[in-house]
Amino acid sequence: MSTQAAVTVAEPDASLLGRVAVVTGAAGALGSAIVEEFTRCGADVVGVDLNGEHCLHADIATAAGNAAMVAAALERHGRLDVLVLNAGAQHMAPIGEFSEEEWHRLLDVMLTGPFLAIRAAWSELIRRPGGRILVTASTSSFVAERYKAAYVAAKHGVLGLTKVAALEGAEHGLTANAVAPSWMRTPLVEGQVADRVRLLGKPEHEIIAELVAEQATKRFVEPAEVAATLAFLAGSGSSAITGTCVPVDLGALA
Ligand SMILES: NC(=O)c1ccc[n+]([C@@H]2O[C@H](COP(=O)([O-])OP(=O)(O)OC[C@H]3O[C@@H](n4cnc5c(N)ncnc54)[C@H](O)[C@@H]3O)[C@@H](O)[C@H]2O)c1
Repeated sequence: MSTQAAVTVAEPDASLLGRVAVVTGAAGALGSAIVEEFTRCGADVVGVDLNGEHCLHADIATAAGNAAMVAAALERHGRLDVLVLNAGAQHMAPIGEFSEEEWHRLLDVMLTGPFLAIRAAWSELIRRPGGRILVTASTSSFVAERYKAAYVAAKHGVLGLTKVAALEGAEHGLTANAVAPSWMRTPLVEGQVADRVRLLGKPEHEIIAELVAEQATKRFVEPAEVAATLAFLAGSGSSAITGTCVPVDLGALA
């Protein structure tokens, strides 16, 4: 019997009707689930990624990419209410062998990129009350892991950025929050399974069993479950929640 939750197709929902959202990493596993959920909830969504059929192609690690993303939302929909900063990358190596190139690549995508996006979108997000900044953090924002220096540092750092945005946005009715998923079985994690087989010298089935065992509920998190939490945080029901991080981790941090 599968340990995975059956993800049921939900009825349309109008809770984000009239809202314009930008979602980065939209061609990825979680990003495409976010685009789907936000669209189901009535939002107009601009998906952004390096590639992907229905995405605006932009490099969110650069100021130019983030400016293009904000410009596209305004051009297409005339406003921008919600930023979902979800793009991610991974590289695993011991610190002694961790290249500066990989360090900067990961920090650029998951820490500098969100800063550049928030800066580029700020004037639009505070134009009217109800603006939302949402960041895909990780359980790695709280707990470190060997061989992931850049990922863990970026995911810790982006929580600090989120909190500052929450403080500065408060007077404008803007909230800023993060979600912290634990393991989802996405392409990002498939790469890590291979890295762990190599770095830890264990067979793949053992690595998968170890990942599943980290959750109190012994399964992977589904991208749709994280997307549903982000949709809640994007809506009016979360108006009193700001400057925090919601774990979507099946009890991994408990
Ligand atoms: N999979 C997990 O277990 C897990 C757990 C916690 C947090 N996360 C986070 O969830 C987010 C989504 O990851 P995922 O698991 O869906 O992985 P994924 O690899 O399926 O998606 C990541 C996407 O980000 C895009 N991206 C990378 N660099 C970019 C850039 N410079 N410009 C534009 N797009 C770029 C990639 O092209 C890819 O489509 C990431 O921030 C990741 O760190 C994942």
